[in-house]
Amino acid sequence: MVMSKYVKITEANEIPENEMQLFKVGGCEVLIVNVKGEFYALENRCPHMGYPLYLGSLTGKVLTCGFHYASFDVTSGKSLGPISESPLKTYKVKIENSSVLVELPTSTIYEDNK
Ligand code: FES
Repeated sequence: MVMSKYVKITEANEIPENEMQLFKVGGCEVLIVNVKGEFYALENRCPHMGYPLYLGSLTGKVLTCGFHYASFDVTSGKSLGPISESPLKTYKVKIENSSVLVELPTSTIYEDNK
């Protein structure tokens, strides 16, 4: 069983609506996306060839990779084509006292400390 834990990433008001920001937590790069006031978290790694998704573009809930233009629904992680069938790796998000918390595997969180 994979152990996981919610980690505070940022304050909700730090990420304006329809924008995304990259955060590094331990050995993991997490992209936080604000779609109309709802927050989503995903791994900053395109499932196509692993390039960083923060260099892509966000239109509504659709994130398009800047390298070969695979696109994804950030609310579900689902691939929308055209080049990658694989979904995004997503993480659960919760808001507590206006902070954005993301559930990450503990092995990832403490990777830098090994
Ligand atoms: S690496 Fe993202 S579409 Fe190819």
